[in-house]
Amino acid sequence: MSVLIAPSILSADFAALGDAIAAAERGGADLIHVDVMDGHFVPNITIGPPVVKSIRRVAHVPLDVHLMIEEPDRYIDAFAEAGAAMISVHVEVLPHLHRTVHAIRALGVKAGVVLNPSTPVVALEQIAGDVDYVLVMSVNPGFGGQTFIPRSESKVRDVRALLDRTGNTAPVEIDGGIDLTTVGRVVAAGARMIVAGSAVFHTPDPERATRELKAAALAAASPSGVGR
Ligand code: DX5
Ligand code: ZN
Repeated sequence: MSVLIAPSILSADFAALGDAIAAAERGGADLIHVDVMDGHFVPNITIGPPVVKSIRRVAHVPLDVHLMIEEPDRYIDAFAEAGAAMISVHVEVLPHLHRTVHAIRALGVKAGVVLNPSTPVVALEQIAGDVDYVLVMSVNPGFGGQTFIPRSESKVRDVRALLDRTGNTAPVEIDGGIDLTTVGRVVAAGARMIVAGSAVFHTPDPERATRELKAAALAAASPSGVGR
């Protein structure tokens, strides 16, 4: 697998999400990352299934839905129904993570598990063989525009190594503080799905920002140019 770019609409103008998504897609977005926040697990509140359903109508690429909510089990059906192609849940809120992962997959949706910066990789030890992807948070979730936490780079390597030991080729996704200065490091560490919010939508030209980020990510994945 090459590197997939997933612009996060959290940093876009919510009154013009269709335009934001179209610009990101013109720039080569492979996924659209949708941040769902409940004001409990994280301090911020964002969007729910009705908005995902509307976005689904205008997006041409799969929707990557990141649930930063308590009790995600209660909402998985609704997000799948709304059109999520991928749903990720935080290990910190799920005592029965195995059941949740399999419930997501049973809906025909790819299941991802997410680690907060302070959550150790060992939390994935028993579930690593069952997941479709692992999302490493490189900021504390809740807001766009935060600074990348440098330790996340070695965490990506550790998650990749754990997946490899398990024989799972599932990709590692990274989310938080990714821009042209950090993308190369995380791709070199093994990240293959790259979320970027402010680096795309807090620029005058989100299409171009997406294209530049993707070029940088692909260059870091195949430094020799092979496989681009
Ligand atoms: C943060 C969200 C991110 C956010 C990233 O809690 O999960 O997806 O949009 O924003 P940037 O790329 O600006 O750090
Ligand atoms: Zn996110």
